[in-house]
Amino acid sequence: MELAEVRRRRRMVRRYDPDVAVPAEALDRILDAGLRVPSAGFTQAVSLLVLDDTARDAFWAVTTDPAEQPDRWLTGLSSAPVLVLVWTEPAAYLDRYAESDKGWTDRDPARWTAPYWYVDAGMAALAMLYAAVDESLGACFFGAPPDRIPAIRSTYAVPEGHELVGVVSIGFPAGSPRRSRRDRRPAAELIHHGRWGSEMKVIP
Ligand SMILES: Cc1cc2nc3c(=O)[nH]c(=O)nc-3n(C[C@H](O)[C@H](O)[C@H](O)COP(=O)(O)O)c2cc1C
Repeated sequence: MELAEVRRRRRMVRRYDPDVAVPAEALDRILDAGLRVPSAGFTQAVSLLVLDDTARDAFWAVTTDPAEQPDRWLTGLSSAPVLVLVWTEPAAYLDRYAESDKGWTDRDPARWTAPYWYVDAGMAALAMLYAAVDESLGACFFGAPPDRIPAIRSTYAVPEGHELVGVVSIGFPAGSPRRSRRDRRPAAELIHHGRWGSEMKVIP
């Protein structure tokens, strides 16, 4: 599929056909897309934890309250055959940037324009969202409750030092995704040419 078409079609898919598995080769290509992304200092410290079947069920068991009736969002998302948990390792970035070509040996987080360990996780997630569309699959990026992250970590033996950034659900969409209640903001509010908010005055 043309990239422009992938970008046009991509929507967060929050309801899946639970009876149709994600083909293994398609999943491999999606995961490969998640790794073939730019990374700050080429640190490559974003890790993907792939869950299906019982491992996927365990994710919902540790992140939800069995006493509570699942809402529409949870019913839809938990129908996804595959979940990919996106983890990042901040210390790996501080180590990489302490190397001689970067020279930030004090490992001071204040040096960073923004924490690139999260930026890189976003790059990986977006690449997987687009790759899913390219495979005629649907996907959604969502967060996990922070208070359940220790339980997630122990369930899947994730080492300390890796932080969960979000989850990408993948599967064949059931129906068309719902339109957002919010409108897309006009480009003119978000794209600024020359100076913020108004046209650059050319002084003769
Ligand atoms: C960083 C990030 C976090 C998000 N977290 C959630 C989430 O926790 N649950 C959810 O249903 N959607 C989540 N979304 C999806 C957004 O709600 C969605 O992208 C937005 O409504 C626009 O819809 P679209 O992506 O289908 O165009 C998240 C998106 C991003 C980029």
